[in-house]
Amino acid sequence: MANQKQNKYYLTTSIPYANAKPHLGHAMEFIQADTLARWHRQRGEEVYFQIGTDEHGQKLFEAAEQAGAEPLSFVNEMSETFVQLAGDLNVDYDAFVRTTDAHHKKGAQALWQACEKDIYKGTYTGTYCVACELFYTAKDAVEGMCPVHPNRALEDLEIESYFLKLAPYQEKLIELIETDAYKIFPALRKNEILSFLKNNQLEDLSVSRPKTQLVWGVEVPGDNSHVMYVWFDALANYITGVGYPDEPNFAKWWPADLHIVGKDINRFHSVYWPIMLMSAGVELPKALYVHGFINAAGGVKMSKSLGNSVSPEEILQRYGTDALRYYLLRYIPHDADGEFGLERFHAVYTADLVNNLGNLVQRVASMTTKYCDGKFEIAVTGTPSHLDDLEDAAFDDALQKIWKELDALNEAIDKNEPWKLAKTDLQATQKLLYEWIGDILKLSAALAPFLPSTAEKIHNIFTDGRVDMHVGMLFPRIEKED
Ligand code: MSP
Repeated sequence: MANQKQNKYYLTTSIPYANAKPHLGHAMEFIQADTLARWHRQRGEEVYFQIGTDEHGQKLFEAAEQAGAEPLSFVNEMSETFVQLAGDLNVDYDAFVRTTDAHHKKGAQALWQACEKDIYKGTYTGTYCVACELFYTAKDAVEGMCPVHPNRALEDLEIESYFLKLAPYQEKLIELIETDAYKIFPALRKNEILSFLKNNQLEDLSVSRPKTQLVWGVEVPGDNSHVMYVWFDALANYITGVGYPDEPNFAKWWPADLHIVGKDINRFHSVYWPIMLMSAGVELPKALYVHGFINAAGGVKMSKSLGNSVSPEEILQRYGTDALRYYLLRYIPHDADGEFGLERFHAVYTADLVNNLGNLVQRVASMTTKYCDGKFEIAVTGTPSHLDDLEDAAFDDALQKIWKELDALNEAIDKNEPWKLAKTDLQATQKLLYEWIGDILKLSAALAPFLPSTAEKIHNIFTDGRVDMHVGMLFPRIEKED
């Protein structure tokens, strides 16, 4: 069984709430996951890459109401904006799950039934944040306000609810995380969860809402007066998307090799999700990568009301897909928060993409046209081994290494001055150019998972021993907007 699964890789992003249009944080998660998916495909693995949208819950219901729309037509429209963004970012996914899909709802109900021995009905009294879809204790609250949404007062709520017992699984979960049987990385995130698990007795999780409070959700099997808590329903997407409980695809793809999520939803994925699976007798995913947050320049939270938020579509239209992919992968640290400001983005675009990579390819191509009649003789492709490791999702380090090599190539050209050498020794000039083309093609193979269409363009410029100057510039120089 293990062997049969060795060459496959199933990875997922979180599924964003379809309550508003996507922002830069969503774009980053898509891009990170797509880069990993492409990297694994490049290694000959069979990859299944799933994304989707989270479409139930009170927050969604309220957003639809505010927009004056029926919930379903509202989420249809919002979900489409995520599909559109994924396309614009060149995200090559295999499946897009929507939690309003009939097969997802059936699968979520099957998961609930599988957990039934740990589920009981009780009463919940607490303070609730609608934006987080989460109850908070008095300890969490900041002067009565939500700790994540400082403008949102916590609401007092007493409801009849089903609960999932968590405590019976606590010790086992600590062991699984400690031994990396369920690997949470970077280490900071793993330690955060371990210290939470070791210092708190887990309270049972409220996993339903009475329909008197909320109707927009998946019905609890056997009790049509309750819908599932949106997180129970949403987390299930990772298994329903590959056919849980009984489609053949489920046995093929589950357990997932990697879930990718942001730091604010670490606990859902490293505590509640694995416990739901243990309760249901389903294998745990192998790993969880937790990324940080993108803030505006200066480290402040991006928000529409502060006027410092940047829409991904705005950047894409002006600078193109690979420019955004590059910035987010290279300059948002993979293991911490990062910043996005237009000024810095523009400077990086010009320095790293126009002047470095773009110019390198341009001048090697035009010198080959000039000194070699547009022809070259080499047969080097494939990924250079020293740029080989993305297992730890260190996109920033990997790109830094590639850019160091690009710097070295640019320096070698400046030092050798082929435009002078060609006057005295054409053969030596040609040899140098062939070498550089080989190096560019190697780097471009390494770059392909990060900047797929740039890598493809480079390949098209230097293909079958001929330089094609019609492919056009990789990165046009762009004037800064005032
Ligand atoms: N619907 C839930 C996820 C359910 S998964 C079973 C959710 N949605 S969300 O839209 O709020 O967030 C989706 C993803 O975007 C999360 O991984 C979240 O951490 C990430 N980000 C939200 N804001 C972000 C930034 N400012 N920066 C980077 N990522 C951020 O949570």
